[in-house]
Amino acid sequence: MGPPFYRLRYHTHPLKTERYILGTTITTAVFPVAGRGTRFLPATKAAAKEMLPIVDKPLIQHAVEEALEAGARTLIFVTGASKRSIEDHFDWDPELERALLESGKHELVELLRGMLPADASCVYLRQGEPLGLGHAVLCARPAVGDAPFFVHLPDDLIAGQPGCLKQMADHFRNQPHSAVAVETVPRDKTGSYGIVAVEDGTGPRQVRQIVEKPKPAEAPSDLAVVGRYLLTPKIFTKLAATGRGAGGEIQLTDGIADLLKDEPVYAFPFSGKRYDCGSKLGYLKANVEFGREHPEVGTAFRAYLDEL
Ligand code: UTP
Repeated sequence: MGPPFYRLRYHTHPLKTERYILGTTITTAVFPVAGRGTRFLPATKAAAKEMLPIVDKPLIQHAVEEALEAGARTLIFVTGASKRSIEDHFDWDPELERALLESGKHELVELLRGMLPADASCVYLRQGEPLGLGHAVLCARPAVGDAPFFVHLPDDLIAGQPGCLKQMADHFRNQPHSAVAVETVPRDKTGSYGIVAVEDGTGPRQVRQIVEKPKPAEAPSDLAVVGRYLLTPKIFTKLAATGRGAGGEIQLTDGIADLLKDEPVYAFPFSGKRYDCGSKLGYLKANVEFGREHPEVGTAFRAYLDEL
């Protein structure tokens, strides 16, 4: 895999002196997976939340597939305690392959071998202590380097055609600035999200303000940031200077609020359906809906649901 592709065309934001590269293909995705997943205890005591399956495919594999579709080939996992299974999942397992081949299950071997393209590489970093999402992203700095990158939170599963990151990458080619995926949430839920105030209009718009987990009465809007980001490397300088915020954690939202002072950041209303698989209810909904459409068991599962 070569270096990111840069079209030699620059554009200067009218209000700022920085130069933004048009036509950049983003080749790096960061998956912060060091959180403790306390909402799924005891299931997550010794197992990674990101390995919870949606029917037969773990959340982390959905995440990686979305990033690959968007052009990412360097896949950086920021891991922590009890997350070894994520490394094993993307590793070659010759013993398993041999056993499958011996029992004639060639299609399963193909399935396993097709999980990652040959030009993709996985990097695993430890966060050490889960000090917050902003801190997890900052841990990826040495592996990301000086190029724009995706951040994907695997517990936000988004079903979209194309996937949400691909939609954001396409937008970035013409508007080469940071972006956060957004969707409207009920007012009484603003305290669970980063909330943005945006310029008037429709479609992707510049963010004017971003606040982490505001109370409904203090929220600047009902437009919530969900688990997809496209960030310029300047975010690292900002995160390095970000102190603890909401919940005593180093918040990515606070880093982005600081980034906004120097660079435009876009709110990106993706098309697709999001399932909050960090919550039990969202996870169950995803399993039911993906189960209904599953090529192997979908028909039988729909019949079962009708019976119920
Ligand atoms: P969440 O707060 O939703 O995940 O963080 P959590 O902490 O794992 O789960 P609960 O709330 O205890 O049930 C959002 C994302 O940020 C990552 C998580 O792994 C998840 O993907 N994260 C969070 C980190 O990588 N490090 C942190 O310090 C905090």
